Amino acid sequence: MEQYKKLTNEVGAPIADNENAITAGPRGPVVMQDVWLLEKMAHFNREVIPERRMHAKGWGAYGDFTVTGDISEFTKAKVLQPGHKTDVFVRFSTVAGERGAADCERDIRGFACKFYTEEGNWDLVGNNTPTFFIRDVHNFSDLNRAVKRDPRTGRRSAQNNWDFWTLLPETFHQRTIVMSDRGIPASFRHMHVFGEHTFSFYNSENKRVWCKFHLHTQQGIKCFTNEEAAKVNGMDREYHGKDLFESIEKGDYPRWTMYVQIMTEEQAKNHYENPFDITKIWPHKEFPLIEVGVLELNKNPENYFAEVEQAAFTPAHVVPGIGFSPDRFLQGRLFAYGDAQRYRLGVNHNHIPVNRARVEVNEYHRDGAMRTDGNYGGAPAYSPNSYGSWTAQPEVSEPPLEIEGAMWRYDPKDDPTDDNFRAGGNLWRILAEDKKQLLIENTAGDIASVTNNIKYRHAVHCYLADTEYGERITKAMGLDIEKVKELSKLDNNGLINATMSPEM
Ligand code: HEM
Repeated sequence: MEQYKKLTNEVGAPIADNENAITAGPRGPVVMQDVWLLEKMAHFNREVIPERRMHAKGWGAYGDFTVTGDISEFTKAKVLQPGHKTDVFVRFSTVAGERGAADCERDIRGFACKFYTEEGNWDLVGNNTPTFFIRDVHNFSDLNRAVKRDPRTGRRSAQNNWDFWTLLPETFHQRTIVMSDRGIPASFRHMHVFGEHTFSFYNSENKRVWCKFHLHTQQGIKCFTNEEAAKVNGMDREYHGKDLFESIEKGDYPRWTMYVQIMTEEQAKNHYENPFDITKIWPHKEFPLIEVGVLELNKNPENYFAEVEQAAFTPAHVVPGIGFSPDRFLQGRLFAYGDAQRYRLGVNHNHIPVNRARVEVNEYHRDGAMRTDGNYGGAPAYSPNSYGSWTAQPEVSEPPLEIEGAMWRYDPKDDPTDDNFRAGGNLWRILAEDKKQLLIENTAGDIASVTNNIKYRHAVHCYLADTEYGERITKAMGLDIEKVKELSKLDNNGLINATMSPEM
């Protein structure tokens, strides 16, 4: 038996028997004195931690990011300087499903990438679509309640989903993407991913530009139809996790090329719509893609819970040379992630190895649950102090940002430049006929159980984006095109009022 390692309890004492409880007599009850049994049961009872409120189901891998282009004129971030190579950890996810949900559902896919840079961690937390459903942080919890479980039935509800989406016309472009073939990627390896928001770069002269991140798959885009996905889900609910794991195990490393779009501060001031509205995109023709580098995933985690479940990403983690933007949705995210992680993993979650920076961390945070390092020993715990420790570095400050206007609750729909149907209409017009047909069929299938008033709202939005799109979706949903044309003459509030009753 020498080859077996010794079993111990949680403080290292050897365990005599791991299968037979201590009982009072051969057929008697278990005794309290079986402390090993108590430890085992108590630990088991506490093994489940809260799942992420959304993006609960996910898979991760390590890799590296190598800069192949030269964007040093825009950013001084060391991670983005020519030739630089940085270790990363990536987690992909679905959004609406819980931790046990099937991988191949129609949904957007999350992409979160932690760059362990020499200037601290940078997290790029995006999705596989270049835009998002909504643009005000107030709508975020509601979006998730609408797509998650109905409070009465405990089931997902197409009615809730489409009701919420169609009451907010800015969801139109994302609705179109989710209902298109891209709504069910064949694997994580076969999809593009995006930062979605407008972020900022600033260079060594402290000059700012606005930017968007795009990562294009080098494996090519592949998607599943509803039928293919239903079959895959029936056979293997962990299909995307398996695909990622196995391709890395056999050395077939997935790669993405990172590009950025750049908009100057001057261009942003004169842009024909709000460049900080996440429901809008910057057309490639106007803001061309500039190559930055290659992301490769080449190492699987050793332990799912330790590395994937406990991974914590936040858009608030940036490094000098990369900054935020006035995007009100991004601003909301800057609070949400750290807050969620302090609840989900605890205040010291950045000490967990997968989250820990690979550079020296010198902060004044102290104590807190599960503080497992030396807590900085006797080093001063206050600042300023007279011991010269850990002073702020003004040289990494971002350039100041000029702000215009009074503080107020502005509704972007009141902005005369706001067009919620331009991007979705443009997308429809560039789709090949087979993709158009799939979009129509997927939508008609997904919305089939929903009441007619909500279907009319969607049909009107499609019609406003493109008359052909509107006519074909109206037909597929079995609605009256004359009614759609009439309703499309109303403004947004008029349309909502006219489509409030399920009886129509
Ligand atoms: C105001 C809007 C948003 C809020 C308040 C929000 C909030 C959250 C929260 C609380 C989590 C769980 C974090 C955790 O427990 O670790 C999460 C996860 C995530 N969110 Fe958001 N989110 C927002 C918008 C977005 C957008 C626009 C994107 C994509 C661009 C996005 C991508 C993700 C991803 C990829 C994850 C999973 C990260 C992981 O793999 O651990 N979210 N979000």
